[in-house]
Amino acid sequence: MLSLPKEFVFGGATAAYQVEGATTEDGKGPVCWDVFLKEQGRFSPDPASDFYHEYPTDLALSKEYGVDAIRVSIAWTRIFPNGTGELNKKGVAYYHALFAECLKNGITPYVTLHHFDTPLNLHQNGDWLNPKTIDAFVAYADFCFAEFGSQVKKWITINEPASIAFGQYVVGNFPPNIQYDLPKAIQAMHNQMVAHAKVVNLFKEKDYTGEIGIVHILESYYPAEDAVENLAAANTCNVLYNQFMLDAIYKGYYDNDTMFVINEILKQNDGKLTILPMDLTELAKAAKQIDFLGLNYYQSHFVQPFHGESYIHHNGTGEKGTAVFRLNGVGERIYNPAIPKTDWDWVIYPKGLYDMMLYIKNRYPNYQKIYVTENGLGDKDQVVNGEVLDQSRIDYVAIHLKAIEQAISSGIEVKGYFIWSLQDMFSWTNGYNKRYGLFYVDFDSQKRIPKKSAQWWKELSESTKKG
Ligand code: NOJ
Repeated sequence: MLSLPKEFVFGGATAAYQVEGATTEDGKGPVCWDVFLKEQGRFSPDPASDFYHEYPTDLALSKEYGVDAIRVSIAWTRIFPNGTGELNKKGVAYYHALFAECLKNGITPYVTLHHFDTPLNLHQNGDWLNPKTIDAFVAYADFCFAEFGSQVKKWITINEPASIAFGQYVVGNFPPNIQYDLPKAIQAMHNQMVAHAKVVNLFKEKDYTGEIGIVHILESYYPAEDAVENLAAANTCNVLYNQFMLDAIYKGYYDNDTMFVINEILKQNDGKLTILPMDLTELAKAAKQIDFLGLNYYQSHFVQPFHGESYIHHNGTGEKGTAVFRLNGVGERIYNPAIPKTDWDWVIYPKGLYDMMLYIKNRYPNYQKIYVTENGLGDKDQVVNGEVLDQSRIDYVAIHLKAIEQAISSGIEVKGYFIWSLQDMFSWTNGYNKRYGLFYVDFDSQKRIPKKSAQWWKELSESTKKG
């Protein structure tokens, strides 16, 4: 039995590029992924879940199945097709209609401004490595706050800046497809922290109403076995992937223990990090004003040191056992056969979520509150006799909600949980066979089938509200 606070938010998460489809409709401008996916030729972002047209169906289902809030992102190039300059009125009208439909159904929209989909020309000019992207992002955010502020009261600046930085420059599964360039990834993280901070500061300075936060992917790192050098590797990974950007958003500067590890990595890679004095002013100001942290959590890692030629294989096909992660001077991930993992080699470890939240509370006492903004199971769901019996998803979600329940009783302010994902959708690096949704989507007919997990979710959400 799960016992969560009455006012706990039961949300469903989506992202514009993964659900909307219609990537060239109504004046939408190109994004970095359009070109990258075409070149790869593995799968197309169209039709995705055709949310551009089907959103009333998904919102009606959300209401019926106890979803109180929805994470959506605004596709920057529906608003400004080139990233800056000319405005696309049809894009503006679309998001007004979408938010109105949310509110009509009693569903609170939590809106992300950047969810991996940088406008193409900004991407081609260096993406987050170019400070001009930061300026363009701030202008776009300001427009959105002014335009949609009467409908939207919960704003998220950037989704998973770590996934962007590492996907782009270390794993190489995001455009521009570069591998093992850690200094670039570190600079891209810092620049996103500055972009985030500037947007938070602007939101507060202009007195826009509502709350603003950021979404980080946070995974706990543990020593593969109890050896001192494995502890050091776990610490290096934690600092690089988690602490660096948590320091930025909550301390407003990078603490000495953080910079010790980051400088070591930069030295080994003959790289440097540029931090302008102005950047630190923005970070310090924003750290005092951020309203919430969105925590995306799927898995944790067990690591040992690695010194040698880096090699990462991203399992983007669902062939279990194919993932490899060895990053020179950072660490190697070791899989313990006793700990379950998904077909995409994601280690299922709810304790990692609890430990992460406790670490945040202890290291950043000013953290305010946390929403788990993504968590869920990617699986190869099948329709059998018109039904999708996804018991494994129910089990996955239940053990993670249990970890949240435990966190709340340890005094951690966790206010809600957004299942990834609301409906089945397009996955950036896995295409269409990795399904996460409460609602099954037949991508040919665009018909929805609520899965067994949707029924379970409805009962849980409704009984929680009754107390
Ligand atoms: C994180 C990202 O925000 C989302 O876009 C992605 O599809 C899910 N995780 C699952 O990988």
